[in-house]
Amino acid sequence: MKKLLKSAYARFVAPAIHRRCLADMMAASADFSSVRWEGRVLWQNPLDLWRIHESVLELRPRLIVETGTNEGGTALYLAHLLDQIGHGRILTMDIKEVDGLDHPRVRFIRGRSIDGEAVETARAEAAGRSPVLVLLDSDHSAAYVREEMDRYAPLVTPGSWLLVQNGVIDQLPHLRGTRPGPLPAIRDFLRDHPDFEVDHERCGRYLLTHHPMGWLRRAQTVAATSSRERKMGSPRRFE
Ligand SMILES: C[S@@+](CC[C@H](N)C(=O)[O-])C[C@H]1O[C@@H](n2cnc3c(N)ncnc32)[C@H](O)[C@@H]1O
Repeated sequence: MKKLLKSAYARFVAPAIHRRCLADMMAASADFSSVRWEGRVLWQNPLDLWRIHESVLELRPRLIVETGTNEGGTALYLAHLLDQIGHGRILTMDIKEVDGLDHPRVRFIRGRSIDGEAVETARAEAAGRSPVLVLLDSDHSAAYVREEMDRYAPLVTPGSWLLVQNGVIDQLPHLRGTRPGPLPAIRDFLRDHPDFEVDHERCGRYLLTHHPMGWLRRAQTVAATSSRERKMGSPRRFE
C-alpha cells in the first residue's frame, strides 16, 4: 500500500505540485523576463540557467550556438563561462537588433534562425570545432522548432546536447494559447533521430524547469540509424 501511494505521488501529485509552483514563480517574476546578468537582461529560469552552467563546465564546448538572443544576457553569461574555461566561441542570432553586446567570444548575426544565411554561418563556425552545444530559444511554435532542430541538430557533436527550450508551453494551462509548442516537435524529431535521446536527469535535476524533455543528448557511438534513412536505405551521415 505504501509503495502504491509513493508511486501515485511520484506520477501524479508531485508533477502537479511542481507545475503549480513553476506557474506561481512565473507569475511573480513576469516569467523571469527581467533576470539580469551584469545588468543585461537574460531571459531564463535561474534553475535552468544553473543546469546550463553545469553543462558548459562539464562539456567545455568550443562553440555554443544560441538561437534567440533577445538582449544578449545569456550570450554574455556564456561568454564569461567560456572565459573561465579559457576557450570557445558563441554564435547567437535574432530577428531583431541587439545593442551593445560586445565580447570577443560572441558573434551576433541578425536574421531568422532557419534561413540559409544563418544556418550557413553556424555551419562555418562549427567546422573543425568540437564539442559544439546548441541552444534553441527563438520561435517556440512546434513547426518552427522542428525546422530549427533539423537544421541545427547536425551541428551537435556526439556526446553533446541540443537544448530545446520552453517545452513548458505544452504543459502549463496559462500558456495553452501559444500551443503547440516544442514538445510535439521534440517527440517528432526523436522518432526520426535515434542518435538523440532525452537526458532525463539533466532535464529533471531541479524539478521546476522550463525545458521538459529539452536536453537531448547525441549518442557517442554511431550505432543508430534514423527511421528516415532506414526507409531510404542511405548510409548514415554524421555531419
Ligand atoms: C525567449 S527570447 C530569447 C531569450 C534569450 N535566449 C535569453 O536567454 O535571454 C526569444 C527571442 O527570439 C527571437 N526570435 C523570434 N523568432 C525568431 C526567429 N525566427 N529567428 C531568430 N530569432 C527569433 C525574438 O526576437 C526574441 O528576442
